[in-house]
Amino acid sequence: MAIDSSFISELKLRCPIEEVIGSYVTLKRAGSRYVACCPFHNEKTPSFTVFTDTSSYYCFGCGAGGDVITFIMNRENLDYVEAVRLLAERAGLSVPENGEATEGKKQNRERMLQMHRLAARHYYNNLIAGDNACMRYLAKRGLSMSSVRRYGLGFAKDSFDDLKNLLLKNGYSLLEMESAGLLAKSRKNGSFYDKFRNRLMFPVIDLRGNVIAFSGRTLDPDGIPKYMNSPDTEIYRKGNILFGLNLAKEKNDGMLILCEGNIDVVMLAQEGFRNAVAPLGTAFTTEQARKISQYAKTAVIAFDSDNAGQKATNKAIEYLRSLGVSVRVLQMQGAKDPDEYIKTYGRERFSMLINRSKTPTEYQLDKLKETLDLTDTAQKMEYSDKSSDIIARLPSKIEREIYAGMLAKELEISVETVKSDIERRRRNIEKAEQRRTVSDEQRAIAGSTDRVNVHRRENLLAARAEETLIVILYRNPDLLHDICDKITPQDFITQFNREVFEFITDSLKNDSSAQSLSFDEKFDGAQTSKIMFLLNTAVLSDDTRSQANDCIRTIKLQGNKKIDAAKLDAKELMSLIKKETEKDEH
Ligand code: UTP
Ligand code: MN
Repeated sequence: MAIDSSFISELKLRCPIEEVIGSYVTLKRAGSRYVACCPFHNEKTPSFTVFTDTSSYYCFGCGAGGDVITFIMNRENLDYVEAVRLLAERAGLSVPENGEATEGKKQNRERMLQMHRLAARHYYNNLIAGDNACMRYLAKRGLSMSSVRRYGLGFAKDSFDDLKNLLLKNGYSLLEMESAGLLAKSRKNGSFYDKFRNRLMFPVIDLRGNVIAFSGRTLDPDGIPKYMNSPDTEIYRKGNILFGLNLAKEKNDGMLILCEGNIDVVMLAQEGFRNAVAPLGTAFTTEQARKISQYAKTAVIAFDSDNAGQKATNKAIEYLRSLGVSVRVLQMQGAKDPDEYIKTYGRERFSMLINRSKTPTEYQLDKLKETLDLTDTAQKMEYSDKSSDIIARLPSKIEREIYAGMLAKELEISVETVKSDIERRRRNIEKAEQRRTVSDEQRAIAGSTDRVNVHRRENLLAARAEETLIVILYRNPDLLHDICDKITPQDFITQFNREVFEFITDSLKNDSSAQSLSFDEKFDGAQTSKIMFLLNTAVLSDDTRSQANDCIRTIKLQGNKKIDAAKLDAKELMSLIKKETEKDEH
């Protein structure tokens, strides 16, 4: 089906590519561009670039590229028309000309949302109608009427057809209700009945304010399951939503509290902490972490104090940190969850817990200590070993130093010893990481060629070293002579990088400020964007000088491997050997 091209232009205008892509991956600004780890292949260093000036994207790693519509097609696995519809919906536009099938789908979704809205209102009315089991339960748990209103809580009666009858009266079919996850089907006789019965109902509300699912807590002390959640439906994807985020996203002062349960969220809000959210019955997902990162700089993890909660904490730390969220861990004593804690000790004490919440490293070191007896020498050594590993994993040298100092005091060992041990571990971690990213990349680009640097694929190790060296030089023009003493463009293995290196060294020799380099004088558009991408995204280590030396060594080593000894005459071979031995002597 053809869609009017002026509509497509309007659509693209209303769906800025960086906003659309930014809702899927975390984009980092680099001039007029944005970069991110590619959503289409697995990588650790970002090679995915969004160009705002041309409204396009391109991944230098896997070669994926296109415009905002292609992105949605690939990412959501949709055909062209479906992708246009999704974007149109997002932009609040209606697509001219209607394809039958997708129109039907849209109507289904709309009806499903209406059913949920009706159901939520019905559950709410059931609850506030007067004395009932749910009202008594709320009173027992100390939840107020204003909390009921704030979260739109409700009551699913102990009945097999209360909701079913209401929705039938409103013109919905049994099959529709079933596919909305509101009815269950009897295995015995195939009849339909209310899925949620005798439960306190928490409507799950998306960021636009639509009720899209329910989570119901049983009112029966022995009820199983304790929480029943809506299944995935056309309007609800488990793991994509955080309970309470629709409210907490406003006025959270950049901080969200991540709890385990719905009741925790409601109770905290009741006590004045309106910035709490909870994953809904699933393990915390990366998608949920991404949602948090969109609405807050800091996340305080306040999971249950039991084992499961503590295990989940480590995972949440990892997910949130990797998205750049600053993470704190709240630890409770004398209560298993925030709801219990705040009821027992009050809001001031909870506020203190937030203020005293720990950094992930403090938290992990504390956990480690809990299992060990530091008066026992063997266990003390184990603590020293494991804690040094934890600290060595911190990417920031300053942080490593701070914790090294703390650890040294604790173990009564000199700071220097602890520090150098941690830095040694750090170097090993970085090396391993490098090896891993190389093999990640090797896997990612298998079958695709880098159109700009056509030699890159067969010489990945060398090419990466060349690129890093180029970036080091670009960012540290003062190293020009040091670097040029040790390596010349002829040593470079991939031709494109050789030209870039030569261009930079030549330009710097004429004019020592790298800012005035104009790559587009020598390189074409694709080449320039590849260079800009490199210069803007590379992550360098703290010790640039030794990193430069590592790169030079790698390039030369790879270069020597390339020289086929059989093809050299005796003189050439001798000079090569001489060069190598000289190097070793230095
Ligand atoms: P918990 O089982 O830890 O909550 O579940 P709790 O604090 O004991 O329960 P309350 O306070 O008496 O209500 C925490 C969260 O895990 C999910 C729910 O989202 C719940 O809020 N959960 C738990 C389920 O989805 N299903 C279950 O059967 C239990
Ligand atoms: Mn609880």
